[in-house]
Amino acid sequence: MGKASEKKSINFLRGIPAEEALSRLIPIASEGYEKAIKRYGTEVLQYGHFNGFKPLRDLIGQSHQVDPERVIVGNGGLEVISLFFKSLPRGSNIIVEEATYDRTMVDAERYGHNLIGVELTSTGINLNQLEKVVNKIPAAVFYGIPFHQNPTGINYSEENRQAVEQICREKGILCAWDICYELLRYDGNQNTSITVSEWGPILMSSFTKTISPGTKCGYIVLPKDYVEHMGKVVANTRINPNLPTQAFIADFIESGKYLEFLDYLCTLYKPKMDALNISLNAHFPEAFSVDISGGFFASVSLQKITPDKEESFIKSAKEAGVGIAAAWDAVAPNLREKKRKDGLFTRLTFPAYEPEEIQWGIAKLKELEEILP
Ligand SMILES: Cc1ncc(COP(=O)(O)O)c(C=O)c1O
Repeated sequence: MGKASEKKSINFLRGIPAEEALSRLIPIASEGYEKAIKRYGTEVLQYGHFNGFKPLRDLIGQSHQVDPERVIVGNGGLEVISLFFKSLPRGSNIIVEEATYDRTMVDAERYGHNLIGVELTSTGINLNQLEKVVNKIPAAVFYGIPFHQNPTGINYSEENRQAVEQICREKGILCAWDICYELLRYDGNQNTSITVSEWGPILMSSFTKTISPGTKCGYIVLPKDYVEHMGKVVANTRINPNLPTQAFIADFIESGKYLEFLDYLCTLYKPKMDALNISLNAHFPEAFSVDISGGFFASVSLQKITPDKEESFIKSAKEAGVGIAAAWDAVAPNLREKKRKDGLFTRLTFPAYEPEEIQWGIAKLKELEEILP
């Protein structure tokens, strides 16, 4: 092998599952899809089940202890979030975390909604700031990612999460939690599940990171009186979702193999997460919020990389084999200017890489930061 092919590289940009996890899924998915078609036949090949495949809605309802009529299962988390945004009156005010999933913000803006960011702390939302915002602005929705947040990796404390729910409830704001990383905790602890009552909160989730992005399946749990309205938006946008996928996932869950797969994922991702935490603590102790305990992401603000140096730093990182990008699209528009003062904000992902690669990549970033003129 020539020297060039031995050059190390890592791409911290794409939050994708590890290839080996997907490979492990091949026999499970092949059998699962075949079984689904054989078991349900034309039922999953025909139109129907607009709000999702009934057996899967039942299982999701059971897992969150809600009436399955409140569950809508779609083609991915992003799809159900988008349909939810579509179901709101145009120009609604949506409160988001200071940094959040960039695609949901872009999507909300496309429906003409206004985004208002509220600062994050290492244990959740800055509650004083949230109070101030809700007292000033009539918001329709709060959207947050309480477990292993994308992009910061923080976990809300239970008190903080409940306080957010309480504030929303008092103000008649729909509180929507995107819980797609809840089950991906690698430090040996379990996240405490969110209790759903008649009023909410709304839960949004996805099987993208816990099964596979290719199978594309996600869901939303709504207050009962919102289901009919949202159901119309859903049916008029895409009629039914992908039913063979949903039948496969229902069977995967029912068989108990989904839980086994989750255990496998948590074991697989733990050393990778540890490598990320150790390297960040060693090289960027001031630049990141907390040790992460699961999920797919951590973020850092590289203080020395001021806006004028951003482009050349990203370019030299790329040339050195480290893929990073500025994550300004993930920052709420009203807080971007302020956040820029902390230096280059970037999101790092780790599950698809080996611990050594992660350690090398972080060390390289530090080295480049030090030598940048
Ligand atoms: C917070 C969050 N919500 C939703 C999604 C999208 O999930 P899906 O691929 O099922 O659309 C992701 C994917 O990365 C995510 O990070």
